[in-house]
Amino acid sequence: MQKDFLGPLRGMIGAKSTPIIGVDISSTAVKLVELSGNPDKPELLRYAIEPLPRDAMTDGNVANLETVGSALERAVRKLGSRTKGAAIALPTSMVITKKITLPATDRDDDLEFAVESEANQYIPFALDEVNLDFAVIGPVASDPTQVEVMIAAARKEKVEDRVAAVESAGLKAQVVDVEAMAVMGAYERMAENLPGKGVDQNVGVLDVGATSTRFYVFRNDEQIFMRESPFGGNQLTQEIQRAYNMTNEEAEAAKRSGSLPSNYDNDVLRPYVDTLAIEAARALQFFLTSNAQGQLDYLLLAGGCASLPGLAEAVSRRTNVTASVANPFAGMSLSSNVKSRQLAADAPSLMVACGLALRRFD
Ligand SMILES: Nc1ncnc2c1ncn2[C@@H]1O[C@H](COP(=O)(O)OP(=O)(O)OP(=O)(O)O)[C@@H](O)[C@H]1O
Ligand SMILES: [Mg+2]
Repeated sequence: MQKDFLGPLRGMIGAKSTPIIGVDISSTAVKLVELSGNPDKPELLRYAIEPLPRDAMTDGNVANLETVGSALERAVRKLGSRTKGAAIALPTSMVITKKITLPATDRDDDLEFAVESEANQYIPFALDEVNLDFAVIGPVASDPTQVEVMIAAARKEKVEDRVAAVESAGLKAQVVDVEAMAVMGAYERMAENLPGKGVDQNVGVLDVGATSTRFYVFRNDEQIFMRESPFGGNQLTQEIQRAYNMTNEEAEAAKRSGSLPSNYDNDVLRPYVDTLAIEAARALQFFLTSNAQGQLDYLLLAGGCASLPGLAEAVSRRTNVTASVANPFAGMSLSSNVKSRQLAADAPSLMVACGLALRRFD
């Protein structure tokens, strides 16, 4: 069994307080974040974002290893850190996780053996084709002779592709996490700044990326819901292309710099923002019907589209839930390397990288 591939699930053995860079290889960019200090008061040391060409990643897979590797290399150079250790994440949809119950034992070997024999039932691949990891959650409340164990498995090649990409840039993949777990790590910190610190509340995190939108609901330190829909910032880029007869690259650049004709706000941006808000309301509806844990209390917007003008208001209106733009670095001190104005613009899209960087404190 490949061990520790999902480090955080078992507490990241062997990586205690070693410096580590959070590396988010997303569909549009590679994003690097390095934190230092201590868990109660982290400091954002430095970060770097390097865009990826359109065909480098497809559906979360590394489609062009060389392109992704050289973007990572440029990002590492920009970052200017001596740290080599990296924490990376697999897209949540590529990882099968399952909570199972096993007889309690003091012997790791016995537990490992039990996990392997049980895992067969839940994993639709041959065990030698997967990376398998597990973490003991704790004893079963009603039966202390049993323990609850979380198992996680992903196809080997999915892990290996990402590891190869970071290694080609001179980094060393020390932690392989699941994106949803990285978001949870970032959320736990962000919750500190919520009304009532989010205690006993259902808090949503909507990560609006380029190709898709992920909606998570957290309650205390648990993720109680997740849904992904294939809708993101690329749709707005396409609308801009169509409206102004631009190439994809021109539209993307114009969108980011805000240099578009005066009818853009009314004719293109607003309808898009409203569609996004309707998508958010739909995701929320799925949560409400699938879950007995009540209403949503608060909503954080993350991802590169989070700060689109009017989005937070539109989402609040459509969902009846107060929404605001997430800042994964809220409450952290900033080193002198970090330009705070640029960070304000970049922060929502760095949530995953930040969650990964936080693994150094686990
Ligand atoms: N200033 C901006 N104004 C408008 N849109 C922006 C801005 N900055 C980024 N975006 C959009 O946000 C999207 C990228 O967001 P993000 O970096 O969160 O995506 P990603 O993590 O690469 O994608 P995914 O999570 O889907 O893999 C793109 O569609 C981009 O055009
Ligand atoms: Mg993303």
